[in-house]
Amino acid sequence: MRKLYKNIGQLVQTREGKNKLRGEEMNLLPYINNAFLIINNGKIENFGSMSQLIDEKSFDEIIDVKGKVIMPTWTDSHTHLVFAASRVNEFVDKINGLSYEEIAAKGGGILNSAKKMEEIEEGELLKNAKILLNEAIKYGTGAIEIKSGYGLSKNAELKMLRVIKQLKEYSPIPIKATFLGAHAVPAKFKQNKKAYIEILINEILPVIAEEKLADYIDVFCEKNYFTSDETDKILQEGAKYGLKPKIHANQFTSIGCIEKAIKNKAVSVDHLEVMKNTDFSALENSNTIATLLPGCSFFIDIPYAPARKMIEKDIAISLATDFNPGSTPTFNMNFIISLACIKQKLTPEQAINAATVNAAAALELSEETGSIAKGKKANIMIMKPYIKSYKEIPYYFGTNPVEQTIVSQ
Ligand code: NIG
Ligand code: FE
Repeated sequence: MRKLYKNIGQLVQTREGKNKLRGEEMNLLPYINNAFLIINNGKIENFGSMSQLIDEKSFDEIIDVKGKVIMPTWTDSHTHLVFAASRVNEFVDKINGLSYEEIAAKGGGILNSAKKMEEIEEGELLKNAKILLNEAIKYGTGAIEIKSGYGLSKNAELKMLRVIKQLKEYSPIPIKATFLGAHAVPAKFKQNKKAYIEILINEILPVIAEEKLADYIDVFCEKNYFTSDETDKILQEGAKYGLKPKIHANQFTSIGCIEKAIKNKAVSVDHLEVMKNTDFSALENSNTIATLLPGCSFFIDIPYAPARKMIEKDIAISLATDFNPGSTPTFNMNFIISLACIKQKLTPEQAINAATVNAAAALELSEETGSIAKGKKANIMIMKPYIKSYKEIPYYFGTNPVEQTIVSQ
């Protein structure tokens, strides 16, 4: 199947883009005005300016997009998309003045999701997740990471991971699975966290390896959750099974998590709302990507990660939703780009680079997605006619600027 898209008003992010972008490179977003794009069996065959298009004959389909903007799909490299139910009651508690930490302390939060996860049937969980995944795709997500971490017991963690595995088979977009058993300490292990960590390591990890249920390992490294030493230990055990780290770090406090993540060769450290100088210096000379989640800051009203300072220090940053029922109930990457511009003062170029090229790198998918480049998967978005330039994506905040997401054609 060979398809020609012609009269593209702006074809955005046209670059090889196999590497992470840093510093000054983040300001450059290559594009071609009045362009064409050829897709052959789901892969990008060629693209260029309309004036260079010589032959319009040998195509199975020719689509005249009449001046619309086309760009590569977003990569959402941090989500908790599989969950049993919303936590809308906590939303109301929050409106009435309780903080995220206070809600967690009174039995809400992650433990509340875990209770619901224990009860739900696998089939129901899968059905819910399919609905959400399809919605995310409609908003332009073309590759996604999904974590476990609402199970917090052997059975329930494996149930979540098996659902993610089934989603991988069902999904038209690439999915990476992350084991987040160390998301919170279950109530019955409150006095004996060590025993829970032993279960993660000795009982759950071997099954994950056996059934190939995860690509990455994550820990919520945070005060009242897991210390940096516990994180270090869990990451080392994960590495024995080939699971690379992508961890939750520095959301509320800075307790040495970033250093441990880098020591364990983390692909990314995610959140980073609270950063000490030592955290910056650890990240500065590393290959680890800083994944920022401004939707979480927006929803639970906490500081935004210092994105500009990271770019100034040549740290590779990416953007993701953190979609989950507690701290970030949105899968809308377009809104995340708006928040990054409005609240973190990134330029549209920096934000879009962070959510495409660098986000693909955060899932080790740079070879197949993240930019318009010959040979890459043709996972693309056609924007709605009111979007005349990529700069208008963050500008029209809260809307869905995506008319059509085209994946795996
Ligand atoms: O990334 N911070 C830890 N985990 C999630 C929130 C989980 C929840 O509240 O359900 C996050 O924000
Ligand atoms: Fe998260």
